[in-house]
Amino acid sequence: MKFENIIYHTENSIATITINRPSKLNALNRETIQELHDALNNADKDSDIRVIVLTGSGEKAFVAGADISEFADFSVDEGEKLAAKGQELLFDFVANLSTPVIAAINGFALGGGLELAMAAHFRIASDNAKMGLPEVSLGVIPGYGGTQRLPQLIGKGRSMEMIMTAGMIDAQQALEYGLVNHVTAQEDLLDRAYKIASKIMKNSPVAIAAAIRAVNANYDSSVNGFEVEIKEFGKAFGTEDFTEGTQAFLQKRKAEFPGR
Ligand code: COA
Repeated sequence: MKFENIIYHTENSIATITINRPSKLNALNRETIQELHDALNNADKDSDIRVIVLTGSGEKAFVAGADISEFADFSVDEGEKLAAKGQELLFDFVANLSTPVIAAINGFALGGGLELAMAAHFRIASDNAKMGLPEVSLGVIPGYGGTQRLPQLIGKGRSMEMIMTAGMIDAQQALEYGLVNHVTAQEDLLDRAYKIASKIMKNSPVAIAAAIRAVNANYDSSVNGFEVEIKEFGKAFGTEDFTEGTQAFLQKRKAEFPGR
């Protein structure tokens, strides 16, 4: 696939998607959001790809936000459409992918950048990373899911403070808050993501996809998460991965999951 604003690289069943507008600190303009959607969709549909790693190019930024120059003169209606379209194309799309998505935060993750990282299934960060939702400093609020996902991850009080102050927290603080799972030196960040990916890849991709649906159901007020879990648990018994996983255990060998 050919892209202008991102780099799509696959190796060892991992798709690394690098947001690549370093002169704009990888800010998300319309084209970048569309390309990210296309690349993520492609990776998710490719049965050879077992984990997706999202990162930013350069040493300074993961993503410094939505591209402010694109919406500075928007009307009320255009603002609402921007948020709705972005959530559908990218943020909700990432959260609901069947393939695990790890955000490797390599610098500033601000506004839409932090929202993108929060839409990923989990996050790791380099020790120079800075995270925040500075939208109220621009007279707007987070519009790509930030007001929902930040409290889900770190709780209401901390979220309110971060959003109201428009301030940034560093990687260590993000680790203490549970916003990121691990902090590494910048040069080790991708290796750390790939190490975690290699552990994930030992497991059944079908079961992992079901687990993502069940965990996400906890954050969807239109469904009962416990009921979703029961259904997904039951469905697992009809998969070849379940047969292989249980047989391999009983035969004291490593499972070779067919992914069906
Ligand atoms: N949208 C559009 N352009 C952005 C951007 C964004 N969110 N974030 C950074 N850029 C651009 C800058 O305009 C600048 O472009 P220029 O060289 O053509 O003028 C370039 O990226 C480098 O940014 P700069 O501000 O010069 O870097 P810095 O090191 O001085 O500051 C930040 C870094 C992240 C603190 C600062 O860029 C910033 O505050 N960005 C906006 C963050 C934000 O509010 N995001 C939420 C948007 S809803």
